[in-house]
Amino acid sequence: GEELTFLAIETTCDETGAAVLAGPRPPLRGVPRVLSSVVSSQVGLHRRFGGVVPEIASRAHVQQVLPMIDEAIRRAGVTLDDLGMVAVATRPGLVGALVVGLTAAKALAMALDVPLVAVDHLEGHLYACQLASPDREVYPCVGLVVSGGHTSLYHCRGPLDCELLGGTTDDAAGEAFDKVASLLGLGYPGGPEIERAAKAGNPRAFAFPRSFLHDARPIFSFSGLKTAVLYALRGPNEQLGPVVPTPEMVADLAASFQEAVVDVLVAKTRQVLAMTGLRRLGVGGGVAANGRFREKIAGMAAEQGVELFIPPMALCTDNAAMSGIALAKLAAGQTAELDVDVAAGLVRP
Ligand code: KG4
Ligand code: ZN
Repeated sequence: GEELTFLAIETTCDETGAAVLAGPRPPLRGVPRVLSSVVSSQVGLHRRFGGVVPEIASRAHVQQVLPMIDEAIRRAGVTLDDLGMVAVATRPGLVGALVVGLTAAKALAMALDVPLVAVDHLEGHLYACQLASPDREVYPCVGLVVSGGHTSLYHCRGPLDCELLGGTTDDAAGEAFDKVASLLGLGYPGGPEIERAAKAGNPRAFAFPRSFLHDARPIFSFSGLKTAVLYALRGPNEQLGPVVPTPEMVADLAASFQEAVVDVLVAKTRQVLAMTGLRRLGVGGGVAANGRFREKIAGMAAEQGVELFIPPMALCTDNAAMSGIALAKLAAGQTAELDVDVAAGLVRP
């Protein structure tokens, strides 16, 4: 038929995801529809460690990958025989996590005798914008990925042609949220916890640093901000030990921290929009679920006359549906061989 139904698998970090999508069969072009998308989150397993433990992540993926694939197929109302392609994110991520998804994808592609397509997780995060807005053209655009592992700005000429312009020189934005939440005695993952605490706080209570704000380069730093929060907690006399913050102080620290991160993300993105002259902005990654960030980036885009794309929450955080970018790769002839491997780091500079 004219339609290609396919499976996508996500195991780059701490979410095991599977999705079934359907779209125009190449050489026809078009954005696929998401028929089903399921995610098994491992946050409960990593919580007591305050971060993702790679070995635990790998083992949980092994347990969850086949159930998630079964569930995605069941919810889409299709069978294995309906699948005409298997897509999987093979980079970047945790090596031991990535290999679980890739191994499952290879086995299925081989058994079903259908093409295997390996996709870039970060290009996928940005492609989520196109999935969410199938009738609007997202590319060319500035792409901003803000997640637990990445804070990067791209010049995307097309879905498969995203040039990395710059990123963080130390912590990722989501990582800063997680670390500061832990300093404040809030839960894991830290982003949603800080957002909740910040609602009762004053974003101007603490004057936290905004790194590289007046630097022309598209780079970020969040470790100084994290240290500033630590010092604010330490109090005036180290001999007396750390300040035990009142709930009001926690709320003010959370609000002031969140405001500093959001200000920097928005300002650096505005700089890159001006530098490239691009009139569209696509945003992806878990931190894009933050309400204050969404409000301020939308305000900036409106003021600059830039068309903004931010997917709904479920497409911002890690999921397999965004690997639907594989349909564009298949159309471009970019299928993978069965000996394809994973890559932990960024492939491009
Ligand atoms: O994209 P994602 O699900 O996984 C990675 O690829 O890293 O992003 C997870 C990150 C975590 O650091 C989490 O704290 C952060 O996204 N995050 C948030 C919010 N929800 C998730 N950060 C700020 N505000 C939120 N509401
Ligand atoms: Zn991600």
